[in-house]
Amino acid sequence: MTSMDQTKANHDDAAKPLWGGRFSEAPEGRLERFGASLPFDRRLWREDIAGSKAHAAMLGRQGVISDEDVSAIEDGLDVIAGEIEHGEFAFDVDVDEDIHMAIERVLTERIGPAGGRLHTGRSRNDQSSLDAHLAAKEYSTRLCHALIDMESCLLARAESEFGVIMPGYTHMQPAQPVLMSHHLLAYFWMFSRDLVRMRAALTAADTSPLGSAALAGTTYPLDRRSVADALGLTRVSPNSMDAVSDRDYICDLVYACSLVQVHLSRLCEELVLWSSAEFGFVEMDDAHSTGSSIMPQKKNPDFAELVRGKTGRVVGDLMGLLTTLKGLPLTYDKDLQEDKEPMFDAVDTVSDSLFAVSGMVSTMQVKEGRLAEASHEGYMCATDLADYLVGKGMPFRQAHAVVGRVVGDCVREGITLQDLTVDELRSYSDLFSEDVSSALDVETVVSRRTTYGGTGHEAVHEQISEAHARLSADEVSLGGE
Ligand code: ARG
Repeated sequence: MTSMDQTKANHDDAAKPLWGGRFSEAPEGRLERFGASLPFDRRLWREDIAGSKAHAAMLGRQGVISDEDVSAIEDGLDVIAGEIEHGEFAFDVDVDEDIHMAIERVLTERIGPAGGRLHTGRSRNDQSSLDAHLAAKEYSTRLCHALIDMESCLLARAESEFGVIMPGYTHMQPAQPVLMSHHLLAYFWMFSRDLVRMRAALTAADTSPLGSAALAGTTYPLDRRSVADALGLTRVSPNSMDAVSDRDYICDLVYACSLVQVHLSRLCEELVLWSSAEFGFVEMDDAHSTGSSIMPQKKNPDFAELVRGKTGRVVGDLMGLLTTLKGLPLTYDKDLQEDKEPMFDAVDTVSDSLFAVSGMVSTMQVKEGRLAEASHEGYMCATDLADYLVGKGMPFRQAHAVVGRVVGDCVREGITLQDLTVDELRSYSDLFSEDVSSALDVETVVSRRTTYGGTGHEAVHEQISEAHARLSADEVSLGGE
């Protein structure tokens, strides 16, 4: 193509964009594609069509456009929806910048002037934000349900493993024995807090910005409340300038996703450790692991690792979004087009990760024998041995020092605390007597942790009931969503 031809082609293009009137030249292909959001915002076609139908119907009710126009618009949009649904709609990023323009252009080509009236009293600024609100509401609702599934899966496992004792760690060093149920329930509570955050994100999304137009509202007698009602949105944004530049609701959602993903990552890190030959606490189900193409013996916790790895991108989505918003002047700036990809990415990643992890947790095999063995290693009854001496009247600091010497000697000799006879213990303090065996019995050591929220059997039993109550309350309150 000669440069003359190129100029002419550009001039012809100028007739295409919706704003073509003012322009003699359109950006050339590569630049046009750089500015386009169609490749990713086409995912919002359902929201866009729902928003347009609600807007058109309201324009009709308010007498801004005729009933015939409303019918033509609605019918035309239904046909387009069917085509997109069946993959028959020809999206063309060289023609349309975004989903809003693609749908409106094709509608207008088909139904004529009525299509040209759809955008009355509306801007793509409030339209694109409306679509994102509707999507964010849908995504947060779905993620709330996925979080409830995750909670039920952890609670079920905490119940089925009740009584199994494992080492509890601080600094990744054996600290005190705990019930495995207690360990699993720790994650239950993390996800239940995530649910609170996800619901907050849902509430934030539940607002209609439509009717804010470009930034200042409009001269047409729009009934914003009725459009919000038709779309199932609870609130109408009270400030048009805030409405078209606000992306807080997307940040809320991506933040809620980030913390879910961080929690999943911590759990996955434990699954990776626990399923290693060195720990041997669990064996991952075959269908939730992978093998090696060279080492026949390998069973790799790939999916757990991948969830851990994908945490970087979800946190990156949040950072990217916040950084995009930082320093933006009111109102709409094209930067805001960068809001959707991080939202889609975070939501998709967290949703797949929740699915993967709940599958791993519910199918993993718990190695009780190995856990019992590990619970006797690491001198984890040392605190209880010191408490025993305290019970006999020794100040805790002194008891700590005595037991420290006992442990030091055991370490040097390569034996456990349970290997010591009462007589041997008496050489450290004559307060030791026959009843010391209970301080060294792992089962007793665990069950004596009776404080509310502790790992004792009774306390965990109570915690399980509380978790059930929490889960039912969450299910009931989400029932309507
Ligand atoms: N594609 C745009 C976006 O996603 C739509 C809004 C564009 N508004 C504008 N004035 N250029 O942000």
